[in-house]
Amino acid sequence: MTERETRTALVTGATDGVGRLVASRLAADGWRVLAHGRNRARGAALVGEIEKAGGRATFLEADLASLAEVRRLAAETMATTGRLELLINNAGIGTAGDAPGRQVSADGHELRFAVNYLAGFLLTHLLLPMLKASAPSRIVNVASAGQQAIDFDDVMLTRNYSGRAAYCQSKLAQILFTVDLAQELAGSGVIANTLHPSTYMNTTMVRQSGTTPISTVETGADAILALAVGAAIEGKSGLYFNVQREMRADPQAYDAAARARLKALSLELTGL
Ligand SMILES: NC(=O)c1ccc[n+]([C@@H]2O[C@H](COP(=O)([O-])OP(=O)(O)OC[C@H]3O[C@@H](n4cnc5c(N)ncnc54)[C@H](OP(=O)(O)O)[C@@H]3O)[C@@H](O)[C@H]2O)c1
Repeated sequence: MTERETRTALVTGATDGVGRLVASRLAADGWRVLAHGRNRARGAALVGEIEKAGGRATFLEADLASLAEVRRLAAETMATTGRLELLINNAGIGTAGDAPGRQVSADGHELRFAVNYLAGFLLTHLLLPMLKASAPSRIVNVASAGQQAIDFDDVMLTRNYSGRAAYCQSKLAQILFTVDLAQELAGSGVIANTLHPSTYMNTTMVRQSGTTPISTVETGADAILALAVGAAIEGKSGLYFNVQREMRADPQAYDAAARARLKALSLELTGL
C-alpha cells in the first residue's frame, strides 16, 4: 500500500485488553494506528511491538476522565494525521474499577458516565470533520450487553449509586449516541455502529470486578473488527451487535425523546 493509500485508525484504550489486540491487528493489516492510552510506558510498549512486527503506530496520551484532555487528544490526532478513516471508542472502566463507591471525573461528572460515554461523545464530535473528509469511514462504539436505562432525574447517580448501575447506564448511553449519530451522518459516507464485544473476556476490567473470565480477547477483537473493517457492515449504520449478531439493544435506545434528552445534556456538559 502506498503512503497516500494508508488508512489511519484511532483506537482509544489501546494499552490493555481487547483494544490492545484490535490496535495490533489493524497495524498488522497495514493500517497506521493512533493508539490512545493514559499510561505512557504501556503505550511505548505497544508501539514498540507494532513497529517490531513491521507496522506503524503512534501513541497518544490522554486521561479521558478530563474533558480538557479529550479536547487535547482530538487536537493531537489532527496534528498527527490529515486523514482518519476509523475511530474506535473502546476505552472504558468496568463495574468495580480501582476504588469502591461513587467517583467523579476532573469535571465533576460521575466517572463511568464521563469516561465510558461523554469522552467518546466529545472526541467523536471533534473528529467528525476529519472522518467526513476521509469518507468512506467508520465509527465503532464499544458498548456492552450490560445496559441500564438512563434516569434523567439523576444521570450522575447521586442517589442509589452502584458501580454496576454506573457502568450499565454509561454503556447504554453509548448506544443511544450511536443511533443518533447514524441518523445525523446519513449520506455522509461515515457509518457508526456499536456492540457488546464478548462476555467476560479475560481482561483487567473483568478480573478487577472479581468475575471469572469466560471468553477471550480474540473473540471480542473479531467482533470489533467486523464492524471496523468487515465488508458485511458496509452501508449499514446505527446498529447494535451482540458479539457478531445484530440485535435490539435496551428499548431506551429506540426512544427518540430519550436520545434527544441525552444529546442536549451531553452538548451542555461538553460545551460543544
Ligand atoms: N471485558 C469484557 O468482557 C467486556 C464486555 C463488554 C464490554 N466491554 C468493553 O470493552 C472495552 C474494553 O474493555 P477491556 O475489557 O479491554 O478493558 P481493559 O483491559 O480494562 O482496558 C481498558 C482500556 O481503557 C483504558 N482506560 C480506562 N480508563 C481510562 C481513562 N480514564 N483514560 C484513558 N484511558 C482509559 C485503559 O487504560 P490503562 O491501560 O491505563 O488501564 C485500557 O487501555 C470497554 O469499553 C468495555 O466496557 C468489555
